[in-house]
Amino acid sequence: MNLSRRQILGLGAGLLADGQVFADQDRNSPVSQSGQRAESVMEMPFERQDPVRFGIIGMGKRGSLMLDLLLAVPRARVTAVCDIVPEKTSQARDRIVKAGQPAPAIFARGDEDFHNLVRRDDLDFVYIATPWDWHVPMALASMTAGKHSGVEVPAATTIEDCWKLVNTSERTRRHCMIMENCCYGANELLVLNMVRAGIFGELIYGEAAYLHDLRAELFSDEGAGLWRRFPHMKRDGNLYPTHGLGPVANYMGINRGDRFVYLVSMSSMQKGLEAYRAAHIPRDSAKWKEKYVCGDVNTSLIKTAGGRTILLQHNVANARPYSRLNMVQGVKGLFLDYPPRIYIEGDQTEEEFTDLTRYRDQYMHPLWREHGEAARQAGGHGGMDYLMLWRLVQCIREGLPPDMDVYDAASWSVPGPLSEASVGSGSGPARFPDFTRGRWNHRKGTAI
Ligand SMILES: NC(=O)c1ccc[n+]([C@@H]2O[C@H](COP(=O)([O-])OP(=O)(O)OC[C@H]3O[C@@H](n4cnc5c(N)ncnc54)[C@H](O)[C@@H]3O)[C@@H](O)[C@H]2O)c1
Repeated sequence: MNLSRRQILGLGAGLLADGQVFADQDRNSPVSQSGQRAESVMEMPFERQDPVRFGIIGMGKRGSLMLDLLLAVPRARVTAVCDIVPEKTSQARDRIVKAGQPAPAIFARGDEDFHNLVRRDDLDFVYIATPWDWHVPMALASMTAGKHSGVEVPAATTIEDCWKLVNTSERTRRHCMIMENCCYGANELLVLNMVRAGIFGELIYGEAAYLHDLRAELFSDEGAGLWRRFPHMKRDGNLYPTHGLGPVANYMGINRGDRFVYLVSMSSMQKGLEAYRAAHIPRDSAKWKEKYVCGDVNTSLIKTAGGRTILLQHNVANARPYSRLNMVQGVKGLFLDYPPRIYIEGDQTEEEFTDLTRYRDQYMHPLWREHGEAARQAGGHGGMDYLMLWRLVQCIREGLPPDMDVYDAASWSVPGPLSEASVGSGSGPARFPDFTRGRWNHRKGTAI
């Protein structure tokens, strides 16, 4: 589906006037590819499998970390691995065998060999950890071959591809999860639990971001340096929205009683990558032919159907410490991360922030309470990556629905192209498609 900028930005002024609720119709939403009303996969349980057999496509930095963590998750097996670099697949095979599992099937014969992996019948779930442009073709192939899939972040980079994931998941009755590990962070799950307990009162506002100095990685001659700089030459907007936005969406019950309706976005000028290149890259490098167009700091504001607002930022091109902001404001108090601090009306005598000590014990999320030690030992961003995988294996073993489904994958990823559209139009509003086709209000409560 090709949407014109006019369609993307086509918001009636009357609809925006009160800033509240949009009509529950979505002119952009295709009913289904066949014209029939598609059957939702919302809350569709996995069929039980035990052990759970994984195939991994992409054995780079992320895929090999996920492999090591999966090998530490009880009842998880890795039966197939794929990468275009044969050494990466043989290293993966060695680690799988060393962990006591049978040697996996290996697929290392070029860009399209993943089709042979997804066709195997000894797989329950395909984990996709490849460069962004490969996420959607690989997820579509996995689902079409009858496998549930999990895609690294962002799941997709265009509106059209977000819809393809939704349509294919509904048509094939296979899940397409977004593997948003930050939703399983200790602070994120603590805050989610506190939101559930009503500690903040009704939520009003949140802040989410990916603020990470990636300059050295972007200019590297290996790994993500081989592909992750290129979007900075083509796109001006938020290239990586989900790490910050996923947790805040969970706090606010997005697709579980509320939904993102529109955003406006603005980009700063671009300077960071040019300045890094000038300081670090030899003059005869081909990188000097590159022209970067993505503004260093992109700032978007999202409005939800329930009347909430979210600030969403992206910056990977300037010197700065890491932050996802991870902030939420309710009627009765607020939480801010980096560093974590909190203020709850009535709990403090002064109007000052305090640390989380008094809340951690009482509101620690059950996943961290029961598996925190194993998670910390296994590692992966402080344990959250392990917990995400442990929880996925639990959902499949027990026949539960996934915590994050294709509607979350599409809704959290689409601020990428929507921010580009808004920036390109001089910061006009860009409307979120309703990927749930009106069902965002049917399921209540919070994920995980
Ligand atoms: N969730 C997180 O915390 C997190 C962290 C880092 C990266 N990521 C995401 O993980 C993904 C991979 O990033 P990375 O840093 O590991 O990059 P990487 O370049 O280190 O790894 C990508 C791998 O995919 C392989 N590949 C490329 N095309 C392929 C194809 N057609 N078939 C099979 N293999 C192919 C490459 O050879 C490489 O080994 C990206 O989507 C990235 O955004 C997520």
